[in-house]
Amino acid sequence: MFGASFVTLLLLRGTSAALQAVSHTRRSVEPFGFFNNNTIYQTSGNQSITYPRFAEAQDGTIFATASLSGPSPSYFPIFESKDGGASWKWISNITDTQNGWGLSAQPALAELTEPLGGFEAGTILASGNSWSKNGTRIDLYASTDQARSWKFVSHVAEGGPPNTTNGATPIWEPYLLTYNHSLVCYYSDQRDPKHGQKLAHQVSKDLINWDPPVDDVAYDEYIARPGMTVVAWIPPISKWILVHEFPRGNSSSYGVNYPVYYRLADSPLDFRLSEGLPIVINNNTAPNASPYVVWSPSGGTPNGTIVVSDADRGVVYTNRFGGATDAWEEHATPAGATYSRAIHILKDHPDHLMIFGGETFDDFGKGLLTPFTATVVNLTEILAN
Ligand SMILES: *[C@@H]1O[C@H](CO)[C@@H](O)[C@H](O)[C@H]1NC(C)=O
Ligand SMILES: *[C@@H]1O[C@H](CO)[C@@H](O)[C@H](O)[C@H]1NC(C)=O
Ligand SMILES: *[C@@H]1O[C@H](CO)[C@@H](O)[C@H](O)[C@H]1NC(C)=O
Ligand SMILES: *[C@@H]1O[C@H](CO)[C@@H](O)[C@H](O)[C@H]1NC(C)=O
Ligand SMILES: *[C@@H]1O[C@H](CO)[C@@H](O)[C@H](O)[C@H]1NC(C)=O
Ligand SMILES: *[C@@H]1O[C@H](CO)[C@@H](O)[C@H](O)[C@H]1NC(C)=O
Ligand SMILES: *[C@@H]1O[C@H](CO)[C@@H](O)[C@H](O)[C@H]1NC(C)=O
Ligand SMILES: *[C@@H]1O[C@H](CO)[C@@H](O)[C@H](O)[C@H]1NC(C)=O
Ligand SMILES: *[C@@H]1O[C@H](CO)[C@@H](O)[C@H](O)[C@H]1NC(C)=O
Ligand SMILES: *[C@@H]1O[C@H](CO)[C@@H](O)[C@H](O)[C@H]1NC(C)=O
Repeated sequence: MFGASFVTLLLLRGTSAALQAVSHTRRSVEPFGFFNNNTIYQTSGNQSITYPRFAEAQDGTIFATASLSGPSPSYFPIFESKDGGASWKWISNITDTQNGWGLSAQPALAELTEPLGGFEAGTILASGNSWSKNGTRIDLYASTDQARSWKFVSHVAEGGPPNTTNGATPIWEPYLLTYNHSLVCYYSDQRDPKHGQKLAHQVSKDLINWDPPVDDVAYDEYIARPGMTVVAWIPPISKWILVHEFPRGNSSSYGVNYPVYYRLADSPLDFRLSEGLPIVINNNTAPNASPYVVWSPSGGTPNGTIVVSDADRGVVYTNRFGGATDAWEEHATPAGATYSRAIHILKDHPDHLMIFGGETFDDFGKGLLTPFTATVVNLTEILAN
């Protein structure tokens, strides 16, 4: 879900604002504990936080960022937590050094788990959408010092100016995955005249040179706009899952206009060969827009739990039956709804479900100053409710 008015707001709201200090600690919040709405960063002035993203390094350090509207040129602020999200430090900003357009929105983070293209394991990679009235560019940046400093690595892809009307040619919403000694960059693509929008990916073996785009989700129906890829690995069934939103003109499905679909595949490069499946709960309700997906071994053997988040509600949608279409459930959480709400399972604490918080799509631009937050819930407990 990425409305024209939202793009306009992001484009118009450029000016720097006084930025407030990060809340470093909060007494009620214990390291690696469970807590609600723990502040990562308090917005001020005309700032708004949406589209949170993160990477957990091998040593358990969590790096978090988000779309931060307000500052001009825009940049991605990077926050670090070494205690499971209890305390956060603002450690750096990723700035656009190439286009003069800023790093406008839609960040992505990943850690290199093996050396690639002259970069050591432990390198933190970042992408995002840099745009102006002249175009959209998905660029790759890297940090070799634990996200303290950043350098430009390569342009992945370029499209026309930001414009969500079918027929315009921008690109959007990168998602990074390290796989098979390469880096995969998924994104939403309006450049193909056969599709209002489709989902594609490109692969690089050296972080510099990118193979041509390969489709992941592309429907014959022109007005279909599959968007906002997120991918996760589900060990017990040896499958990859891709979730995306799936608006088709004004059509509505179970009361929502941006239903969430998923595909399961043996290889994360072959989603184009899999069937698209809707997430529907009890033949009654469905998540809406900008989904995120993670997997946890908690929640029951053998299949653990697939957890999906959407844009509109505080709940999460879960599946403990290997992604069976009739086995989706809905469970309450204390977190609020957030536009493109990322969720995370802490690597060494599989029952810790982290839910990042920020502004909702509908409240964006209203000056509510909703902070960037982290909530951590006990997945086992919320599954029981
Ligand atoms: C953003 O805030 C700054 C002051 O912090 C102000 O100068 C500017 O006009 C604001 N921009 C918009 C688009 O509201
Ligand atoms: C990030 O950039 C903002 C705006 O220029 C600045 O106020 C802040 O100190 C920077 N933070 C870091 C950690 O560099
Ligand atoms: C857009 O392109 C025009 C023509 O090349 C150039 O003059 C202008 O500076 C560019 N604007 C931005 C924001 O890149
Ligand atoms: C957005 O794209 C549509 C379709 O190509 C075009 O008609 C429209 O003029 C574009 N909008 C802007 C502001 O350029
Ligand atoms: C990994 O990439 C190599 C080519 O570099 C290819 O031969 C191999 O089939 C790939 N393996 C998987 C599992 O995709
Ligand atoms: C959606 O509905 C509006 C108003 O009825 C109409 O103008 C528009 O063309 C429709 N969009 C699509 C893609 O069908
Ligand atoms: C799902 O709900 C619809 C509308 O209430 C009903 O017609 C249909 O039979 C239901 N399907 C199943 C499999 O229960
Ligand atoms: C686990 O997932 C697999 C693959 O979807 C499925 O065949 C199996 O029935 C599932 N087991 C349980 C107990 O849900
Ligand atoms: C957390 O913040 C959201 C607003 O982003 C709010 O809707 C929700 O109720 C808060 N949760 C708690 C437990 O305070
Ligand atoms: C999570 O909840 C379950 C069920 O109440 C409990 O057994 C488990 O100890 C909890 N995990 C932690 C880390 O407290």
